[in-house]
Formats: sequence, structure tokens, C-alpha cells
Amino acid sequence: MEPVARSKIISNVLEGKLLGLLFYEPSTRTRLSFEAAMKRLGGGTVGFAEAGTSSATKGENLTDTVRIVAEYTDALVIRHNMEGTARYVAEMVDVPVINAGDGAGQHPTQTLLDLYTMKRLLGNIEELHVALVGDLKYGRTVHSLAYALAMFGARMSFVSPPELKMPREILHDLAGSGVNVQETSNIHDVLAYVDVLYVTRIQKERFPDPQEYLKIKGAYTIDSKLLENSEAIVMHPLPRVDEISHDVDNTPYGKYFQQAFYGVPVRMALLKSIIKKG
Ligand code: NCD
Repeated sequence: MEPVARSKIISNVLEGKLLGLLFYEPSTRTRLSFEAAMKRLGGGTVGFAEAGTSSATKGENLTDTVRIVAEYTDALVIRHNMEGTARYVAEMVDVPVINAGDGAGQHPTQTLLDLYTMKRLLGNIEELHVALVGDLKYGRTVHSLAYALAMFGARMSFVSPPELKMPREILHDLAGSGVNVQETSNIHDVLAYVDVLYVTRIQKERFPDPQEYLKIKGAYTIDSKLLENSEAIVMHPLPRVDEISHDVDNTPYGKYFQQAFYGVPVRMALLKSIIKKG
């Protein structure tokens, strides 16, 4: 898929197929990379990038909107601020449904591209030690990634302010599959040992109280000086706010732009595998 994503090879495997994009929450990479992925494979997309431009503003409920768009298309991608929305929608329609982020729940296709990036750049996921850094409470990307890394038996460390620790039920699930994780609020505890620093944004929009956000904002800033004694690559699902300094961008540590590109070939592979031929 990579040469097709870079238009070095032209593909029409999804010619005549349509993907529905239902984005009730803001998105840049996820939405545009799904759109690019579908079009690179010869298919098309319909949808909306914010609920404000859909009939939701006229009072239409989610169920009706989704049912109709499912009639128009061959698969749906949905992002919504409520946890469980994608699962709810999947039970309602006959076309495949992809969760592009459900509140502070999960973001499974981000995890696919995160795993692909690790495998592509570092080789075996099984042998890696990955630190998940930042907002582990509200960050949906790290929830999905923690479950996936556990499936590969990778080592994990969780680095967060005490207020933003990984939810206890996820730790419980990980322990149930035999994975015990080191938790710390001090990034220096892990810096020398890890292969990947997976940094996340503090999820401002999920805080019930803005004062709480202001207290924690800027808790971590990864800069090139901090990385001097580390061999880790730095990943981030993006968007970043202030948690990775721009001086990391062009160093061998900074892999987040490459990671974002991999979203296209990975989503192409996913679409090709779930959209019915014929
Ligand atoms: C993430 C998301 O929406 O959860 N962004 C993305 O899809 N790449 C991360 C974030 O918003 O912080």
C-alpha cells in the first residue's frame, strides 16, 4: 500500500465504492487520511466534518442520520464524543463500521498505524519497551494502544501526572492478560530504558473543570536536550500542543510526521480488507 499511498503505483481496487465519514468531533489526520486512503484505492467518500453542517442541528437523532448514510455507502467511519457510539452504530447497520474515536474510549485505527510505525521503524513489536506519556486518563489513543501492545507481549511503562493515570479497569484487564506495568510521574525513570516514547496531548476538552486542566497543562515537555541520554524514538498521534518541542522535529528521535503518513497505507489496507467486492 505504501507506493500506492505515494501515487507511485495507481490502484482501482475500490472503484465504485463509497465510504461514509461521520465526524461529530474535530479531526484533521484521521478524517483526511481515511479520505486519502479511499481515493488512493479508486473509491470515493461522502460525509461531514462537523455535526453543525448535518441535520443534527435540525434535531435529527444519530440513529436516523447513520441509517441513511449507511444506505448510501459501503462502509462507515464515525467519530463521536460519546464512548460506545461506534459499537452502538455497528449494531444498527449492515455495513462495516470503523471507530475513529469515541470520546475518551478507544481509537483503534490509530493503534494500527502506531503498531505499523513501530514495526516498520524498529522491527519486532514483541521485544519493545514502550513508554506511554501524558494524558493516560482521557487519551483514547493510549487506551487502544495499551491493549494492543499487551497482545504482542511488549513491555510498557505509563508516565503521567497522578491525576491523569491510566484508568484502573484497563490496568486490571492488562494484569488479567499477564502484563504488569510500571507507573510513574517522572519521565526520567524510564528515559534510559525505553525504545519508544509515545507522547500524548493533555485532552483539554474532556476535563469537567477548566481549573483542573490549567493545573496540569504543560506537565511534560520533551525537548532534544532531554533526549540526549536516550535511544528512544518519539511518537505522537498529533495534534501536539506544547508536549514536544519543535527542536525535536528534525532530529533522528522525532518520528511523528512519518507516523502520520503511515495512517494512509494502514487505512488503505483496512478498507480493502473490509469493503465487499462486487
Ligand atoms: C487523537 C485523537 O483524536 O484521539 N488524534 C488523532 O486522531 N491523531 C489524539 C488527540 O486528539 O490528542
